[in-house]
Amino acid sequence: MQAIHNYLDNNNLQTPCLVMDMDIVRNKYKEMSQTYKNVKIFYAVKANPEIEIIKTLHEMGSCFDVASIGEIDRVLDLGIPAEKLSYGNTIKKENEIAQAYKKGIKLYAFDSLEELEKIARNAPNSDVFCRLLVNCNGAQWPLSRKFGCESHYAVDLMLKAKELGLNPVGISLHIGSQQTNMQTWKEAMKYVRLTLDLIKEKGISLKIINLGGGMCSQYENPILSTQEYGKIVMDMAHNIFADTDIEFFIEPGRALVADAGIIETEVILTSYKTGQIHEPVRWVYIDCGILNGLFEALGEAIRYRFDWENKECETEPAILAGPSCDSMDIMYEKNPIQLPKNLKSGDKLRILSSGAYTTSYASIWFNGFEPIKTYIINKYI
Ligand SMILES: Cc1ncc(COP(=O)(O)O)c(C=O)c1O
Repeated sequence: MQAIHNYLDNNNLQTPCLVMDMDIVRNKYKEMSQTYKNVKIFYAVKANPEIEIIKTLHEMGSCFDVASIGEIDRVLDLGIPAEKLSYGNTIKKENEIAQAYKKGIKLYAFDSLEELEKIARNAPNSDVFCRLLVNCNGAQWPLSRKFGCESHYAVDLMLKAKELGLNPVGISLHIGSQQTNMQTWKEAMKYVRLTLDLIKEKGISLKIINLGGGMCSQYENPILSTQEYGKIVMDMAHNIFADTDIEFFIEPGRALVADAGIIETEVILTSYKTGQIHEPVRWVYIDCGILNGLFEALGEAIRYRFDWENKECETEPAILAGPSCDSMDIMYEKNPIQLPKNLKSGDKLRILSSGAYTTSYASIWFNGFEPIKTYIINKYI
């Protein structure tokens, strides 16, 4: 992270901006590939679709989980072969499937009959994953009930896939992003095993379990290291699927890129609501908010760590809000964060581990604010 701090110290960049260090991305990928041994890694492009990140991860040997034609084109335009892509979004338009098929994509996720029929019509003979609906307890950014189907239905759908001429290859899941509860992983894997067995009873032997994302990055609370986390997940997987020859995929997004980025932001305003000296909590408004970079702070779900120049200064709790005219553009009000007592407009703050789901989640031109700009350091030469 020091290289990013140095870069920010030496370049007077216009804020808000995100600086991403490709050396950290490389190290994260290396750690993950060493920890998740013999597991195929598909970087979830949605976490941060920056071209240099895709190039860097391609050089490291990564495959890619893509969610749209836009992401497919972004990856393919770099000369990355279509076989390295998985179209993991379960909600695709008919013509998007047709386009993806034309571009050579062979692997598709689905969780419903209608989607399966669309894939069969537009991507005949393709490999398909059925996404299971799993509990996300413990995830700081849960994926709720929007995705996946229940076990018994997955069995029916896999049979249907075969009937439609598709190749049912595996089951996928997503345990919820920034998943901190390892028991949730265990329950989900047992549920997958149950489903796998039910499908096998019907005569279909699946080859792949796609464990999805959910691996953590360093926000406010301590987390397990990549190695500790991965060991727990893979020990569970090898245990629960011990008597099978199943292959595992993972689709990390956040865990590969969040810790590789720092956003620099400027304090626009600090204020009190009553002006009374004893008013306990000050409001601090910065130029990066829910709608231009910090969307995951919505509902205080993701609690970022903040850094500033004078580490010795006294701190006090502050309510942190963004620059827009929307009143939901408040990051931390219920649980204010510690910021320097002497913070004033014009001061800079750095938001650590902010390389995932920040630039890609930002609104375009709401209130006329320019999209947050990304700078890349330690590119491959
Ligand atoms: C299908 C799929 N795979 C992978 C990911 C990446 O998840 P994470 O960033 O938690 O690793 C997501 C995130 O939403 C997803 O929807």
